[in-house]
Amino acid sequence: MKNLNSISLKLSESGELLILDQQMLPDQENWILVRDPDHMIEIIQQLKVRGAPLIGVAAALSLALWSQKNQPQLGQFLQVSMSLRQSRPTAVNLMNALDRLNQVAEATKVSTDSILNCALEIYQEDVDLCLQMAQVGSELIQDGDSLLTHCNTGGLATVGVGTALGVITQAHSQGKKIHVYVDETRPLLQGGRLTTWELKKAGVPYTLICDNMAASLMAQNRVNRVFLGADRIALNGDFANKIGTYNLAVLCHHHKIPFYTVAPSTTIDFNCPDGASIPVEQRQADEVRGVAGSFGQVRWSPVDSQVHNPAFDVTPAHLLSGLVIDNKIITPKQIQEHGNLKQALL
Ligand code: MRU
Repeated sequence: MKNLNSISLKLSESGELLILDQQMLPDQENWILVRDPDHMIEIIQQLKVRGAPLIGVAAALSLALWSQKNQPQLGQFLQVSMSLRQSRPTAVNLMNALDRLNQVAEATKVSTDSILNCALEIYQEDVDLCLQMAQVGSELIQDGDSLLTHCNTGGLATVGVGTALGVITQAHSQGKKIHVYVDETRPLLQGGRLTTWELKKAGVPYTLICDNMAASLMAQNRVNRVFLGADRIALNGDFANKIGTYNLAVLCHHHKIPFYTVAPSTTIDFNCPDGASIPVEQRQADEVRGVAGSFGQVRWSPVDSQVHNPAFDVTPAHLLSGLVIDNKIITPKQIQEHGNLKQALL
């Protein structure tokens, strides 16, 4: 078996799939041995593995490895694939990756070697697309820029260098002197726990802020550009990303600050016409009533407080300065001129 090694996921030569438990970062680096697709579903739902591209790759590998061991019939294969598909509803990389495996299973009468090769291709493709985005996107960053990012879009959200964070770390490695404001990203603190961990490792200067501090920083001209990721991009360029993204888009529009999303083409939903058609995951109330992590668990609101907890919001395409997709930078104007994102990418 091919040995795979990323900062978020490993595959050993003997076929053991290991996932870095992101719930325990930044204080503990615990690796979880994935038993089977049911275990992977639990891991995805608990956000131990997260980030749109990584969820797709991890789910595909768990299904392919299970198939190698169990040699299922097509019906059983498709059933397990369907359960994985339902583990989280918004990030479309999951559905896109599983659709690819399903097609191979159907075309090859469930050749488990072909299915595994397809999962390995999905892994390698993510590594390659991250590098392309980093290269192209870093051209948008100038020496001396002060950037702002949201959630986590680095190696912990992909199996490569990341999407928006890959662009940022690439600009840093080109010698550009940059500073990054990191939104903590309530409720699950992907910015405060994970992006800070990655930027520290990469030696990129950063400052952690609470989500409600971005507006005043912008008013003081302390942010030049915003880069963040996407979980599902519709054909008209509207996109879902971590809750709080839309706030930043509106703020950037008001302050005339360039606002970019960075995502591989595996995050496009070619069947989704617009943002209103994107399903948004609603999560448990306790995530908002308090917080949990390697530091323990705290609750601050009355135990029965009513809570609104959508994991994502949808940003309309017209608020974007551009979308960095694979090796291209596409503007909302180009999407309009070509009729849709699919045509604009041709
Ligand atoms: O709930 P999460 O942590 O899986 O949400 C992740 C995000 O919203 C990221 O910004 C998105 O997946 C892009 S990551 C390359």
